[in-house]
Amino acid sequence: ETKRVYIDSQAPESEYIEEAAELIRKGQLVAFPTETVYGLGANALDAQACAEIFKVKGRPQDNPLIVHVSNFEMVKSLVTGWGELAERCARAFWPGPLTLVLPKTPIIPETVSAGLNSVGIRMPNHPVALALIEKAGVPIAAPSANLSGKPSPTNGIHVWKDLQGRIPLILDGGACDVGVESTVLDLTGEIPCILRPGGITRERLEEVLGKVSVDHPSENQPPKAPGMKYRHYAPKGDLYLLIGEREKILTRITDEIQNAHTRLKKVGIICTLESASDLHSQLPELLFVLGSEERPDEVAASLYEGLRLCDEQGIDIILAEGVSKNGIGFAIMNRLEKASGQKIWYV
Ligand code: TXA
Ligand code: MG
Repeated sequence: ETKRVYIDSQAPESEYIEEAAELIRKGQLVAFPTETVYGLGANALDAQACAEIFKVKGRPQDNPLIVHVSNFEMVKSLVTGWGELAERCARAFWPGPLTLVLPKTPIIPETVSAGLNSVGIRMPNHPVALALIEKAGVPIAAPSANLSGKPSPTNGIHVWKDLQGRIPLILDGGACDVGVESTVLDLTGEIPCILRPGGITRERLEEVLGKVSVDHPSENQPPKAPGMKYRHYAPKGDLYLLIGEREKILTRITDEIQNAHTRLKKVGIICTLESASDLHSQLPELLFVLGSEERPDEVAASLYEGLRLCDEQGIDIILAEGVSKNGIGFAIMNRLEKASGQKIWYV
């Protein structure tokens, strides 16, 4: 039996926070909102509780969990080698959508780090998440609160649909602001390296850190963030990502809609506001507008909702319009590329 309570995301009710914190201290799981996506939390220092996270999500054992903190004091016992770069990142971007990967101390259970000698730490920028961690008095390990393989949940209802019956409590604080996961930044090497693009852009990191590299996995070099090797964020339908000039994308999508319809397939379009009117007239079964390309933050915030809607409506073929890779666009395109399973059409 899962209880779902609606919590005030700006001024969380203390009785809900207390109830949730008590569950965390007892070794149970609680789903809670953060500014990026919902997290499925457990006491990060309790190996058994963290093992339960993997079970509930159906998560591969080799994929480490991010540990969430509510103050700087908490970080000290978790990592070694908190240096100048970490300090600058935290000062600039915490609380916020940035996860710092640093060498871990033995206090972090193997289950959390999935056998690595590092741990990802983040201070989320959300009153509910911060209040919960603070009240629990322990760091909280939390992956995204979806079933493994599904798009991350950006709304309480998404968590409910995925995890109902599997966990005791969902704190539902409504929609997440950022809508894509945190940027995972590896600080264990010479140069800071982005392992997963996310809510804090490369451009902003470079303003604070100088040169920042990006992990480019290849056939003989697996991604340094184990989670990036899985086809995450994946809807059930086949997603094709279209990249190129708008006119050409519109023409191609129009052709593909006809194509799919002759084969009796249901088509979903995921596109920007600028393309919506033209595509609407082609009568796809679903047209999901991400928002204006002038407001990429909005596009990011609605992306997972769009992918989930395609699933719910039994869409067979999803045609997604690519966006600029600048700023948050880098994270958006990373997720779309993954959702497509690399089915990318350059038109
Ligand atoms: O925004 C977020 O980061 C959300 C919210 C809940 O905080 N969490 C999240 O967790 O997205 P998850 O488990 O879905 O993704 C964590 C990613 C995975 O790709 C994982 O492999 C990587 O971070 N990661 C975690 N610890 C790592 C480590 N020590 N070294 C390399 N990658 C790590
Ligand atoms: Mg995830």
